[in-house]
Amino acid sequence: MSLLRAIPLLSLRFRPCSALVHGVFGLGLRPPRKNHGVRSLPVAANRSSSLSTSSEAPDAGAQAPVAPKDGGLVWVSRTGLCGELSPDDVGKRVRICGWVALHRVHGGLTFLNLRDHSGIVQVTTLPNEFPEAHAAINQLRLEYVVSIEGVVRCRPAESINKKIKTGMIEVAAEHVQMLNAVKSKLPFLVTTGDEGKDAVKEEIRLRYRYLDLRRQQMYSNITLRHRVVKLIRQYLEDMHGFVEIETPILSKSTPEGARDYLVPSRVQPGTFYALPQSPQLFKQMLMVSGFDRYYQIARCFRDEDLRADRQPEFTQLDIEMAFMPLEDMLKLNEDLIRKVFWEIKGIELPDPFPRLTYTEAMSRYGSDRPDTRYELELKDVSDIFVDTSFKVFSDALRSGGIVKALCVPSGAKVYSNTALKKGGLYSEAIRSGAKGLPFLKVLENGEIEGIPALVSSLGPQEKDLLLKRCAAASGDLILFAVGDPGSVNRSLDRLRLFIAQELGLVDHSRHSILWVTDFPMFEWNDSEQRLEALHHPFTAPNPKDLENLSSARALAYDMVYNGVEIGGGSLRIYKREVQQKVLEIVGISPEEAEAKFGYLLEALDAGAPPHGGIAYGLDRLVMLLAGANSIRDVIAFPKTTTAQCALTRAPSEVDPQQLRDLSLQAQ
Ligand SMILES: *[C@@H]1O[C@H](CO)[C@@H](O)[C@H](O)[C@H]1NC(C)=O
Ligand SMILES: *[C@@H]1O[C@H](CO)[C@@H](O)[C@H](O)[C@H]1NC(C)=O
Ligand SMILES: *[C@@H]1O[C@H](CO)[C@@H](O)[C@H](O)[C@H]1NC(C)=O
Ligand SMILES: *[C@@H]1O[C@H](CO)[C@@H](O)[C@H](O)[C@H]1NC(C)=O
Ligand SMILES: *[C@@H]1O[C@H](CO)[C@@H](O)[C@H](O)[C@H]1NC(C)=O
Repeated sequence: MSLLRAIPLLSLRFRPCSALVHGVFGLGLRPPRKNHGVRSLPVAANRSSSLSTSSEAPDAGAQAPVAPKDGGLVWVSRTGLCGELSPDDVGKRVRICGWVALHRVHGGLTFLNLRDHSGIVQVTTLPNEFPEAHAAINQLRLEYVVSIEGVVRCRPAESINKKIKTGMIEVAAEHVQMLNAVKSKLPFLVTTGDEGKDAVKEEIRLRYRYLDLRRQQMYSNITLRHRVVKLIRQYLEDMHGFVEIETPILSKSTPEGARDYLVPSRVQPGTFYALPQSPQLFKQMLMVSGFDRYYQIARCFRDEDLRADRQPEFTQLDIEMAFMPLEDMLKLNEDLIRKVFWEIKGIELPDPFPRLTYTEAMSRYGSDRPDTRYELELKDVSDIFVDTSFKVFSDALRSGGIVKALCVPSGAKVYSNTALKKGGLYSEAIRSGAKGLPFLKVLENGEIEGIPALVSSLGPQEKDLLLKRCAAASGDLILFAVGDPGSVNRSLDRLRLFIAQELGLVDHSRHSILWVTDFPMFEWNDSEQRLEALHHPFTAPNPKDLENLSSARALAYDMVYNGVEIGGGSLRIYKREVQQKVLEIVGISPEEAEAKFGYLLEALDAGAPPHGGIAYGLDRLVMLLAGANSIRDVIAFPKTTTAQCALTRAPSEVDPQQLRDLSLQAQ
């Protein structure tokens, strides 16, 4: 006779949880039961869960929990999920499984919180009626895995907890089965892992990632990622007929871009595959093949020194389309991202997205990914200083440099002169590569003060012109950067971000999304003394600029959200002659081009359609949607900043025989 049937059945009666229940419903605290309710459980999918639909005992055919002998294994069927029990279930007998999240003894009763992926529910004991269950619960410890059977009942009014979904109810334990114990000391508490002073070092979290992922915050980040990907798939496949196609991971090394991860070939000693930095050329091949609309949630690899938000392997939403003019391309992508923000976050993004040309973005913000949630626009004031006596400016202007200004409204009081000469703002300017931080303050009486030589260099006319150009009023602070255009923009971009952070000018309720378009095809690399492709060398030039390719604008577009580039793409070159010219300009000889990209050039000659595409950094997009600070918080098993997997300890040494097989020697 099964243990289950040995348990005396209580006479069950439906008892609504007092009038408060309705109050809670009114507040909308109960989430809609969309996907899975207590009524359809994956684990018991083929079993009629009479339990959950009526208040009888579990289906007699259901597997009854059997106490595992020491070392025994048992698989228990559930009738409900912890986080989905509700006042509707009051009076029902349920069997739930999960982890002990909280355990306390109080007034002769024992309470515990049982947690599964859906949430937590309070379990309490009935020492007189079910002494065995009471005793068993007393022996449990945090994170033990248990199955608990009992009756759902209303909590006494004083212990109602409105902060949690199941706060109106509890399960009175009648039968408890410990499925697994925790045998070692846990490195951190699963439930409090994210709370202020208890914050656990990331090294420890990554080392014990399986525990870290058990935390609610991480669970919701990873499932949010899943929802984003699912939505993207639905949008692309169901609404626009995209086909997902996998491309090779063992691929060919390409010269442009970052350092490749290499994989030695055993069969062809001395040769190497490269892991793809992106599926770029394969997706272009697919367009030549006529697939029309391709996408892939693609893993990409770059062997770079890791900055804060880089991972050696990362995920890209990769898209390519044939016969798609620029406007249609931007529209389809706007609709996609608008849908993602709306469905995942309830954020309504503008329609259409605003656009800035690269030139405009650089000129107004000093950056090709400006955050427009705050103003602080840069002004070119070179013309005002052409005849200046201020040597720092005149020298720079004479050698082809520019002078730009950044006006900080009401900044004169916030930043003392000392702070401007050696404080945080000054250090930031120096870190950005500037040699100093010239400034002016507009006083209450309209006079200006600041660097004396600068103040005295300004005649009344220049002064008026300057204040007008900067829209500066009394109490404002004007900061200057001077030198070659590239470094001036870089420096003021950095100061702009710094000041916005420091003065709290970022309005977090706003959402800045925009396209940056009309990038130049190439930029000058001073250390290499050659032109480089700003995006990649397969980007199509603007047909209007074909006669001087080296200064041409590209048909490229970046999507920027709150100052972060979340996606970037371009229309592609689809004719061999143009492709060859572009490769030449970036210093790839025809022979080298043949060796590296021969197959692409060949394919372009075999009937390549006009095509283009885009790639989104999925990790970063999800990070922004999740409100996380690091992409590592939205990747289940990320690498550390030293490119290691703290959990598996990869990379690791291998057996010497493995090296011999590959004709390699370890040094
Ligand atoms: C579901 O249960 C029915 C009846 O017990 C059985 O015939 C069927 O094979 C089961 N299906 C699966 C997928 O287990
Ligand atoms: C994602 O994880 C981070 C870090 O644990 C946390 O701050 C953030 O709230 C999580 N996001 C969600 C949606 O839970
Ligand atoms: C910086 O901005 C100025 C205009 O303010 C522009 O002329 C210049 O081209 C920009 N420099 C770079 C490298 O983008
Ligand atoms: C110039 O090219 C080298 C080699 O490709 C690269 O390491 C460097 O970052 C480039 N410099 C700039 C300013 O892009
Ligand atoms: C083409 O553009 C480059 C770079 O801007 C410039 O130096 C060159 O003079 C231009 N050539 C012609 C013919 O306009």
